[in-house]
Amino acid sequence: MSSFYLTTPIFYVNGSPHIGHAYTAIIADLFARHYRQRGREVFLLTGTDEHGLKIQRSAEAQGLAPKQLADQNAAMFQNLFTKLNITYDRFIRTTDADHRETAQEMVRRLTDAGAIYRGHYEGWYAASDEAYYDDSEVEEGRSTVTGATVEWIQEPSYFFRLSAYQDALLAWYDEDPSCIQPAGRRNEVRSFVEGGLNDISISRGSFDWGIPYPDDPEHVLYVWIDALTNYYTGVGGFQKAHPLGHHWPADVHLIGKDILRFHTVYWPAFLMAAGLPLPKQVFAHGWWLNEGEKMSKSLNNFIDAFDLVDRYPLDLVRYYLVREIPLGNDGNFAHDRLAQRNNSELADNLGNLVNRSFAMLSKFLEGRAPSVAAGGSVEEVDHALRLSAEQVRDEVCTCMDRRQPSEALERIMHLSSDLNQYCAVTQPWSLAKKGDVDRLKLVLGTLLHGLAWVATLAAPFLPDASKRILDALKLDRPLQLDDLTWDLLTPDSTLVAPDVLFHKYDLDTIHSETATNAASTNHTTIGSHVTETNVPEASQQTPTTTKPLATDLPTEGTIGFDTFEKVEIRCARIETAERVPKSSKLLRLTVDVGEDALRTVVAGIGKHFEPETIVGLHVAAVTNLKPTKIFGIESQAMLLAVDTNDNGLSLTVYSDNVDPGTRVG
Ligand code: MSP
Repeated sequence: MSSFYLTTPIFYVNGSPHIGHAYTAIIADLFARHYRQRGREVFLLTGTDEHGLKIQRSAEAQGLAPKQLADQNAAMFQNLFTKLNITYDRFIRTTDADHRETAQEMVRRLTDAGAIYRGHYEGWYAASDEAYYDDSEVEEGRSTVTGATVEWIQEPSYFFRLSAYQDALLAWYDEDPSCIQPAGRRNEVRSFVEGGLNDISISRGSFDWGIPYPDDPEHVLYVWIDALTNYYTGVGGFQKAHPLGHHWPADVHLIGKDILRFHTVYWPAFLMAAGLPLPKQVFAHGWWLNEGEKMSKSLNNFIDAFDLVDRYPLDLVRYYLVREIPLGNDGNFAHDRLAQRNNSELADNLGNLVNRSFAMLSKFLEGRAPSVAAGGSVEEVDHALRLSAEQVRDEVCTCMDRRQPSEALERIMHLSSDLNQYCAVTQPWSLAKKGDVDRLKLVLGTLLHGLAWVATLAAPFLPDASKRILDALKLDRPLQLDDLTWDLLTPDSTLVAPDVLFHKYDLDTIHSETATNAASTNHTTIGSHVTETNVPEASQQTPTTTKPLATDLPTEGTIGFDTFEKVEIRCARIETAERVPKSSKLLRLTVDVGEDALRTVVAGIGKHFEPETIVGLHVAAVTNLKPTKIFGIESQAMLLAVDTNDNGLSLTVYSDNVDPGTRVG
C-alpha cells in the first residue's frame, strides 16, 4: 500500500481558532479521506506551534505560564478538530518530548554539515521586558506593546547559511514544477530566491520559552526551525527503523499563502543541509475575507471557528468552504452565499434525490432493495448513467490529484443532478402504473446505486450526510472507490429513508441577521441556530440611525462626472510587501495594475498590517496621481483606505475574481 503523508501547518496557541484555521484543517482532512478511499496508507499530521516570544508574551498577559497557555489552547484546537470531524493520525505539539529531540538533532546535523556559524543578531531590545521588538512595534524609543524603553542591540546568535542554498533551491523548483503549487506561488518564490538570499538567525538568547539550543544553554531555537521540524518528528524523525519512518518525505505540506517562504525556502534548505529527502509538494491555499474585509485584530472581525460550526451543520460548512473557491484562491465568506448553496445545491439537488429515491422505493416496492442484475434489460439511458458515474469517479480522482477539490465536488454534484434527470426521464411512477415491475426494479436499482456512488464519492466532503445515506442503503462498511459497482445492495433488504438531510434556510432571515450584525458591531460572533424563534440579540436592536432621507443637496463644491472620470481608480493586486527600513508606518509594495510592469507603491499602512498578510489582496488604487518620492522611494500609485472607529484601518478590498487593472467607477 503506498503511503500518503499529508500535513497541516501547526497552529499558534496564542489565540482562538478562526475560520482560516478551520479551512486548512478541513481541506487536509478531505484529501486524507479521499486517498484512504483509494487504498493509500494515509498519515495526516496536525498540531500546535507552542514556543516563542509571542506565546510567552500572551501567557504573561494572561498571568499564565507559557506551558499552561499552550495546554489550554492545544486542547481547544483538539476540540475544534473533533467538532470538524478531522481524521488526523497524530496531533503533534512542539512541546512534545520526541519533537524536542528531533529539533535538536536537526540542528546538530546542520552544524555537522557546516551549515551553521555564530554571528550577531540585531534588533530593538527592551531590557525590562527581556524582549525584542520589530521596527513596527517601536515609536520614539519605546515599545508600543509595553511602553518599555528600547535600544538597538546586537546579540550573539547562530546563523544558518541559507545563502549557500540558492542554486540548489532553484534547481529543486525547476526539476519538478509541481513541488510548489499553485504555479503562481512557485513563480513568486522562484523570483524571490533568484534575487539572492540572506543567512538567517536560528537562535535567540533574549527569552527562554523555546527548545534549548544543543550544547548552548544560553540560546533557544528560533521558532521557525523548531516549528518546521515538526513535520519530520511526526513520522519518527531521526529514529532508526521507526514504524512511521517510511512516510518521509511528505507528499503534501498544505499551508496558507502567508507562510509560503518558510516552507519553500527555509524548510527545503534545512532538509538539504541535513541530507534528507525534500517534500514532494507544498501547496499554498488562499485566505478568507469576512464579507469582503480582511480579518484582522484591529477590525476585530475574525469568524470564530466554533461559532461557525455551532451555527451551521458541519457538512454545510465543509461544503461551502470547499465549493465556494478553487483551492489556492482567496475567498470571501458570505452568509447568504452559504445559505444559497445549501438551498439550491445540497437541499434541492442531493436532498431531493435522496427523498424521491427512498419515497419511490417505499411506495412502489415496499421499501425492498431491488437487485439491478435481476431487473429488466439495460437500456441506453441506464447505460449512459452508469458511464457518467464511472467517468465522474475518474474525474474526481484526477481533480484531487491536481489539488482541485472544488472541481471534484462540482463533478459529484453534477452526478447527483444526472440522477435527478434520470429519474425524470425514466419516470418510475409510470412504470409502476403500467405494472412493468422488471423495468421498475432496474430503474430504482440504478437510482439507488447511483446514490451510493454519489454518497461514497462525497464522503470526504460531506461525511455526515454520506454516512446517513450509506447507512440507509445498508452499506455500512467503508467503501473504497474501487468497490463501487452496480451490484452493491443486498436484494430484498428493507431500506428506510434517512431523516431530512439538509434543511433550507430562509434567505431573508439570513440577510437581516448578518446585516444587523454588521451594522451594530464589527465583531463577527455569529448567533447559534437559525430558527425563526431564535433571533440573535443584535437583530432585536433598534436601527442605528433615525436620520431622514436627504433632499435638496447643495450643488456648491460638487464635481461633474467628467471631473470624476479624470481620477483613475483601478484594481491592484499586491504582489510583494515589505517594511521600509527605519519607518514604522511605511510599507513598500509592488502591485499589478494590469500593465506590463509592476508599480511600486509606498503606503502608510505599516502600523495596521503585517506585510505578509496583505500579499495577494486585490485592492483599490489611484493610478494616475503624479508619482512622488517618499523616503527616497518613488511611489507610483496610491491605495484607498479608511480609518475605522477603533483606530484601525480598512483597505478597499475586492475579491479575487476582479482582474488587476479593472477600472473602478
Ligand atoms: N505556526 C505557524 C505555522 C507553522 S507551520 C510549521 C502559523 N500558525 S497560524 O496559526 O498563524 O496559522 C495557521 C494557518 O492558518 C496558516 O496556514 C495560515 O495561512 C492559516 N490562516 C490564517 N488566517 C487565514 C485566513 N484568513 N484564511 C485562510 N487561512 C488562514 O502560521
